Amino acid sequence: MHLLLCCMKRVLTALSLLITVTTALAQNAPLITDSVGRQTLNLNGEWKIIIDPYDSGLFTSRNQIQRNGYFRNAKPQSPSELIEYDFDKSESLWVPGDWNSQDPRLFFYEGTVWYKRSFDYQPKPNMRVFLHTGAANYMARVWVNGEFACDHEGGFTPFDCEVGKLLHPGSNFAVIQVNNQRKRSGVPALSTDWWNYGGLTRDVALVEVPTKFVQDYSIQLKRGTTDQIVGWAQVSDAEGRQHITVRIPELKLERSFDTDESGRADIAFSAIGLQLWSPESPKLYEVEIEGAGDQVREQIGFRTVEVRGQDILLNGKPVFLRGVTIHEEAPFRSGRAYSEKDGATLLSWAKELNCNFVRLAHYPHNEHMTRLADQMGMLVWSEIPVYWVVDFTDPTTLATAKQQLSEMITRDRNRASIVLWSVANETPSTPERLAFLRDLIAIARRLDPSRLTTAAMNTVHMERGTIAVDDPLGADLDVLGVNEYIGWYSGKPEDADTTKWTNPYRKPMILSEFGADAKYGLHGAIDQRFTEEYQENLYRHQITMLREIPFLRGMSPWILMDFRSPRRPLAGIQDFYNRKGLVSEIGEKKKAFFVLQEFYRAKAAQR
Ligand code: GCU
Repeated sequence: MHLLLCCMKRVLTALSLLITVTTALAQNAPLITDSVGRQTLNLNGEWKIIIDPYDSGLFTSRNQIQRNGYFRNAKPQSPSELIEYDFDKSESLWVPGDWNSQDPRLFFYEGTVWYKRSFDYQPKPNMRVFLHTGAANYMARVWVNGEFACDHEGGFTPFDCEVGKLLHPGSNFAVIQVNNQRKRSGVPALSTDWWNYGGLTRDVALVEVPTKFVQDYSIQLKRGTTDQIVGWAQVSDAEGRQHITVRIPELKLERSFDTDESGRADIAFSAIGLQLWSPESPKLYEVEIEGAGDQVREQIGFRTVEVRGQDILLNGKPVFLRGVTIHEEAPFRSGRAYSEKDGATLLSWAKELNCNFVRLAHYPHNEHMTRLADQMGMLVWSEIPVYWVVDFTDPTTLATAKQQLSEMITRDRNRASIVLWSVANETPSTPERLAFLRDLIAIARRLDPSRLTTAAMNTVHMERGTIAVDDPLGADLDVLGVNEYIGWYSGKPEDADTTKWTNPYRKPMILSEFGADAKYGLHGAIDQRFTEEYQENLYRHQITMLREIPFLRGMSPWILMDFRSPRRPLAGIQDFYNRKGLVSEIGEKKKAFFVLQEFYRAKAAQR
């Protein structure tokens, strides 16, 4: 028996090593820009699932050395063959969608769920096929027809796996292992104030592109101009120079450019009569980019954003960002928001508040949200979840953060609404964190020099009623983001009236968080915690303070809507919801909503 066990141990080690090696070798294809605009086979809908808390689906050890991992979707070849799983007899989950809100057994679950979907496909000549996943929280491994395709880490950015060679005419199947366990080296790491919704939480589709295709592009308005369009386009797998054509039919514009040997073409041309994008006038143009036999088209708005002294300029004019923060929590049903309908509801509430700005916390939201912000005229702060304490000394953590930053920018670089890339939220002021974030800021500026960098900081110093925005990170940011909770986590709401602010960096500041919990319908005295009156009173005193901050150029109070959090159990009040929303999770507007709405109405009228 002893001999058999040690033999099994060696086999198991070899197998797990094999899986690791396979995974390590898998290289995701670079992201395909505007995948939603390309020919796709939508794979949303019911996927069969197997809940696998011990990851036994990677290989099965019992009485066998043959690997029959779940990814094979194997069937017994004879009555005597032992296979201990059967997707077709298992239950289903809806994709897109987190598993926590679909199955009560999975409400708190942190572990692996295996997803399997069969689909018919007819390979087309001279076409390549990628499996596009809008997001899978947190780790994902993808197999197609039992063959490993790719893996991805990060719960809020898309990834594309090239799978054409794994597909055959007729019936095919994909198996995706998703694991949402938090980990010390992760981004985010072990502690967050939001629900760890696991699963295939955004759209999944097959994307078809020609052998060579327009892989990526940036088309922007040149800073300091109102009619000069600049950018670049990248053809995939280019062999020598390629021809790129850019069209804007509405302006009767067509311009051609040649790529260099690497397939990249710089783009620059005049666009006389261009109508600029702004929240008040969110004009979008259909833009076509053609090259190497491929053509992509999408709606793009043209605007510029920059900092001058302590001002933020939109299209060359100072702007005040009348904002609110939003988590990706689904209105009415709770769970991870993923649809255009979810986004439209959340952004329409922000519009009702007279907002021209939203901070999408604490991670890149789904692509419907940023495209809706373009259409509805809402400026956006988009951020990666370098949240609280991640391991700033771990190179793999930095690599993960860089990957997520790059994926966020690549996906959304042509969204006019996005004006700020944020690299962190409430991180401790240490030398390691400063080095880590400087690295990220440099990457953001290299990947996208047309936008501003920021971060939400809470390491400022309060002395004798004065807050100095002196976090060393401020020296590296274009715009200072500061979170403060005067009257909730410290002091009383009335303390805000006499609080002064100093700004050694002389840069624009956005007050990126303030607020208080209130359960909708709970009423009482203004000093009774969790009442609507407490929250309303706090907002009034915050506004008194904000009016006096000379370098304040925006604000995004915490938060538009109540959202689930494992850190908020207070029975009868929170019930695992963070209640700082101005709106309850079923759309009920609290008294503070109307205080902010009136402040922003008057602010907008001042313009
Ligand atoms: C922090 C943090 C949020 C959190 C909020 C709160 O500032 O950035 O993620 O939810 O405060 O405590 O409600």
